[in-house]
Amino acid sequence: MSQQNIEPCASREEYLALVATLQRYSHEYYVQDAPSVPDAEYDRLFRQLQATEQSQTEWVVADSPSQRVGGKPLAAFSQVDHRVPMLSLDNAFNDEDLEDFNRRNQERLATNSDLEYGCEPKLDGIAVSLMYHNGVLQQGATRGDGSTGEDITQNVKTIGSIPLRLQGDDFPEILEVRGEIYMPKEGFAHLNQKARDKGEKEFANPRNAAAGSLRQLDSKITASRPLEMCAYSVGFVELGSAPELPEKHTDILYKLRDWGFLINAQMKVAANIKECISYYQHIAEVRDELAYDIDGIVFKVNSSEQQQRLGFVSRAPRWAIAYKFPAQEEVTILQDVEFQVGRTGAITPVARLEPVFVGGVTVSNATLHNRDEVARLGVKVGDTVIVRRAGDVIPQIVSVVEDRRPDNATDITFPEQCPVCDSPVVSKEGEVVARCTGGLICAAQRKEALKHFVSRKAMDVDGLGDKLIDQLVENGLVESMADLFHLELNAVSALERMAEKSAQNLLQALEQAKQTSLPRFLFALGIREVGEATARNLAQHFGNLDALMSANADKLLEVSDVGPIMAEFILGFFADSRNRQEIERLQAAGVQWPDIEVKAADELPMNDLTYVLTGTLEQMSRNEAKAALQELGAKVAGSVSAKTSVLVAGPGAGSKLKKAQDLGVEIIDEDALIALLQQHR
Ligand code: IVH
Repeated sequence: MSQQNIEPCASREEYLALVATLQRYSHEYYVQDAPSVPDAEYDRLFRQLQATEQSQTEWVVADSPSQRVGGKPLAAFSQVDHRVPMLSLDNAFNDEDLEDFNRRNQERLATNSDLEYGCEPKLDGIAVSLMYHNGVLQQGATRGDGSTGEDITQNVKTIGSIPLRLQGDDFPEILEVRGEIYMPKEGFAHLNQKARDKGEKEFANPRNAAAGSLRQLDSKITASRPLEMCAYSVGFVELGSAPELPEKHTDILYKLRDWGFLINAQMKVAANIKECISYYQHIAEVRDELAYDIDGIVFKVNSSEQQQRLGFVSRAPRWAIAYKFPAQEEVTILQDVEFQVGRTGAITPVARLEPVFVGGVTVSNATLHNRDEVARLGVKVGDTVIVRRAGDVIPQIVSVVEDRRPDNATDITFPEQCPVCDSPVVSKEGEVVARCTGGLICAAQRKEALKHFVSRKAMDVDGLGDKLIDQLVENGLVESMADLFHLELNAVSALERMAEKSAQNLLQALEQAKQTSLPRFLFALGIREVGEATARNLAQHFGNLDALMSANADKLLEVSDVGPIMAEFILGFFADSRNRQEIERLQAAGVQWPDIEVKAADELPMNDLTYVLTGTLEQMSRNEAKAALQELGAKVAGSVSAKTSVLVAGPGAGSKLKKAQDLGVEIIDEDALIALLQQHR
């Protein structure tokens, strides 16, 4: 058939009418899944639009469907400040968590009545913010860190289910619509098929594919990808002369649908938390049949008024929660077990697996933790095992499929000698961990100690990654931490894959790292059990290294969160002459830090006060709260008595709260505690 002749529009009115028609057709096609004209008709009108816009460039409107096909590539994304922060969600992992969430809401709203919830699948894609001014799409942005995202306007315009202009006339003057951009499973499969055919790299999962497609500076690439957008809330709103938005969250979403958005077809209203649980079970059953990947269900208190009363904690609203689906599991074969040696000599058995796709990635290793875990699982080499990968947690072996055990399966035997340095391996009485006794003679321990020493929260040596440490140790350039500061340019630039420029950069980074702080230095030393927080507490308590090194166990126990076991590790570390020498060498090489002014106990603001913590803390862990209070000089006790100064009561508080009330002890909630701690920062 011959190509039809396409006549450009004769007038601007005709052109604008064409824009409106094409907008309607594309909404029918992308959002309603119900096109009223055949594709050929759409294509013909679309070509007419293009022809018109080519000859009459001054007519082109920002919301023309032609703007979806992708404009000029960008050099970089610019930043967008969110006028209302884009929060994340707290998670629930079982029915009890969900019921707790409901109970907390009822308590905060001081009601025993059922709360109504909006229920929606949690789409596994990328959050997006779309800003409309007078109904025209002005800007699309990623969530970023929640307060600042990236401007992806050109890219979002290529997505068919995102309206470039809102339908109807009752939308707010400024309206920010939020939702998830995702790639339906079918589109994902096609995309990967194409990649396979061309011998290109495939995407691991639809989420990655969606993210990769959105982060394209060339929006033509985005335009070629099968992306969708599903709206799930509004952000910034300025009504202008428009009527108020509906009171209920679900009705707001129906409004968004009227204005042209795709909303989730599975969305439901639950009259109470029991109905939420049934909804969750129902969606879990149909999950695999859905056209898109989901990783849980989002429940939102449906009344906006109640949402406002519940408010937010630092990173998530109190009125919403994501109930995650159970971790994803797969079956594979354990092909071998290798033993890795960690920084403290701990020997960890690592399962080498026949690669398996689970939880969205290909997994070929899983930790077996220690001897006890191997025994608990009763696992042998050659076994078929169930691997679990939940979220970003490292893969675990959950169990053995025993009836698939082959005849030649072999037991896992722990080495008696270190696989790296041959030193004897010992397990202390009562400890499940087996350790290499080689200390710093062991290249594996040295490497791990060095990796820890230079890491970001320790000495923070820029550009000194794991691979480079391996090379430095293997080439005999570095044995201990202080050797790093004696590296010479020639030797470093002679390493494989090292150019002179990068060698210079490394030496410069090492030079910079010499100026450090006492907490960082203490953490960097890698004393067993001494994490970042303890290092900080030790530094603040003793003020300088000499005072710490000469402290006895009693003195160490005065430091918050130092217990007898840790005190022993600290004493043991400083009693070892090799460690003392290493510290001297580090200082001689120029590593230095300022001393810290130590406050006497009676100068601390909470000296003489005794706190008790009860109920659930939602914004910090109990240990964090305790450490923060102790840092200010307070004592933190386990039970309420007449000596208690303040009780911090979170949701779910019981007998301690009652006792405190009876004794007339001051009672505060977590928010008040946080305010108090901030006052003393
Ligand atoms: S509501 C303040 N609803 O899940 C409420 N989020 O950690 C914020 N997500 O990055 C989100 N489906 O992009 C909401 N139906 C849904 C959702 C949803 C997916 C994503 C969202 C956010 C993450 C929450």
